[in-house]
Amino acid sequence: MAETMQGLKRSARCAEIDKSSIGQEVTLMGWVQKNRNKGGIIFVDLRDRSGVMQLIFENGSIDEEGFEKAGRLRSEFVIAAVGTVEARSGAVNPDLLTGEIELRVHKLRVLAESETPPFPIEEDSKTKEELRLKHRYLDLRRPDLQRNLMMRSRLTSLVRNFFTEEGFLEIETPILMKSTPEGARDYLVPSRVHLGNFYALPQSPQIYKQLLMCSGYDRYFQIARCFRDEDLRADRQPEFTQIDLEMSFVDVDDVIDVNERLLERAFREILGVGITLPIARMTWKEAMERFGSDKPDLRFGMELKNVTDVVRGCGFGVFQGAIEQGGSVRGINAEGQGAMPRKKIDRLVSFAKDHGAKGLAYAAIAEDGSVKSSFSKFMSEGEMDALVGAMAGKPGDLLLFAADRDKVVFDVLGSLRLELARQQEILDKNDYKFVWITEFPLLEWSEEEERYMAMHHPFTMPMEEDLDLLDTDPGKVRAKAYDIVLNGTELGGGSVRIHQDDIQEKMFQVLGFSMEEAHKQFGFLLQAFQYGVPPHAGLAYGLDRLVMLMAGEDSIRDVIAFPKMKDASDLMSGAPGAVSGQQLDELQISLAAQDIK
Ligand code: AMO
Ligand code: AMP
Repeated sequence: MAETMQGLKRSARCAEIDKSSIGQEVTLMGWVQKNRNKGGIIFVDLRDRSGVMQLIFENGSIDEEGFEKAGRLRSEFVIAAVGTVEARSGAVNPDLLTGEIELRVHKLRVLAESETPPFPIEEDSKTKEELRLKHRYLDLRRPDLQRNLMMRSRLTSLVRNFFTEEGFLEIETPILMKSTPEGARDYLVPSRVHLGNFYALPQSPQIYKQLLMCSGYDRYFQIARCFRDEDLRADRQPEFTQIDLEMSFVDVDDVIDVNERLLERAFREILGVGITLPIARMTWKEAMERFGSDKPDLRFGMELKNVTDVVRGCGFGVFQGAIEQGGSVRGINAEGQGAMPRKKIDRLVSFAKDHGAKGLAYAAIAEDGSVKSSFSKFMSEGEMDALVGAMAGKPGDLLLFAADRDKVVFDVLGSLRLELARQQEILDKNDYKFVWITEFPLLEWSEEEERYMAMHHPFTMPMEEDLDLLDTDPGKVRAKAYDIVLNGTELGGGSVRIHQDDIQEKMFQVLGFSMEEAHKQFGFLLQAFQYGVPPHAGLAYGLDRLVMLMAGEDSIRDVIAFPKMKDASDLMSGAPGAVSGQQLDELQISLAAQDIK
């Protein structure tokens, strides 16, 4: 019995009406949230993307037929209601924007009926995510998701305004392109015209934005879709969006400056939260030493302490062994956790092992000052006292130690620190602690490939004062690279780019590329650099991560309209899916595995 809108025009959204409209006639259109039939009077909650309005149908104010129709309304029916705004007759609802008013309806049309939805459309849904993603079009009706997507839209429009005002040009770059060396696996697209050849989907617009600098567009930005075939986590999707920018004739401070002002404006205008500028900066080395992470969460302390020198020469073989092998011994003081039950400590030990530790040594300081420890039998009293002292251990504290190669120790204690904070529930989502991490190592040694890999990408400029080390000790070279980190999440990263041939050539050498290989992979960029390349630098934010943190969500899936599952599939459409034999024939592709469904 679907009716048409003919003759009716929506005059406002539900929550755009307030007390000042009392006495006026309005026409609302939306979805039925709830219907309560009290005999002679029917209350219907009408929902649209702005909020909910209570409709009231009463014999007398609407004709017989209309009243009967109202009685048949069920959840998710789409209706148009014409009525008069009134002050609420019943209890005022302070939870609703429209809690003080209601609409006395005198005309009702049912624009569409609805099957009973497979799950209730409600805030903070308890329904399993799989079911919700399968029916994402219904899930997206939830007020929380609608708020998130509206915030995302406000943010992208603010970003566009900001950069445009700052003299940046918005320029699109290709989606079908040649693979960029960003570090993740590419998504490939076969070419029908060039049989046997493939495009890659961009992992980022990196190369194109550098080319745009060569072409003189001196300030570029783009809200760019990126694709990376990597293992997914709560803050990673196979396709995601970057706020991408690049600038010419600039150095690190210029990029940081413009981006700080962007963040300040976004948080002020969208959340009403003030960020004090300048944002703190911390070198990569300091971040690792103090927090065991290059994306430290600065909302709490529990910093790592290096106790290598304190335990050097002690009787505990585990500590000694690590030190002899060039590693270190570091600890964290979980203050006030000294009474943690043994079982819970054992779980921390397993947690540490899951993060690569061989073990986790602990010492619990009782209220009377006595120390219960997994390694006290190997230590003299004096050695233990010195260690407790170095950790500033007080009665009631729990000290946790890892001994290994630095990288393992940082990974283990950095993760453990976060785990302890989660357990203690001390992380406040409304506390925003930003930090720039600077002076990243240029290179990272890959055990697997037995060669250096670029930590950011091969076009990142080494710090001038470390240039000589490129020949002698490449692992020690620091880069002009920076990440912006918020509450333990890497929001974005960028660098000053190499624009000198000789440095770029050396970089390729260190990475184990011959110039021939380099030219084969991105010769067009190297060639462009032969014709006058300005010094340039840039940065890209993960837009999804930024919105996730602003919206107080734990997963980027909650701020993406149609996200993918952990296994990169789309439960709603069924992508990725098989294609017809004809499509494969056209591409001259045959599948090796015959049992693929
Ligand atoms: P990078 O690889 O650090 O740098 O990426 C920039 C930011 O993009 C976000 N991000 C992701 N978000 C969701 N899902 C993913 N799979 C994912 N991968 C990355 C992160 C990250 O900080 N071209 C360079 C930038 C530059 O040098 O200018 C780049 O892409 O928030
Ligand atoms: P063990 O002598 O192996 O029983 O170890 C004594 C204590 O040291 C246990 O609590 C272990 O978990 C811990 N331990 C073992 N290896 C390490 C390590 N590499 N770093 C820190 N603690 C360790």
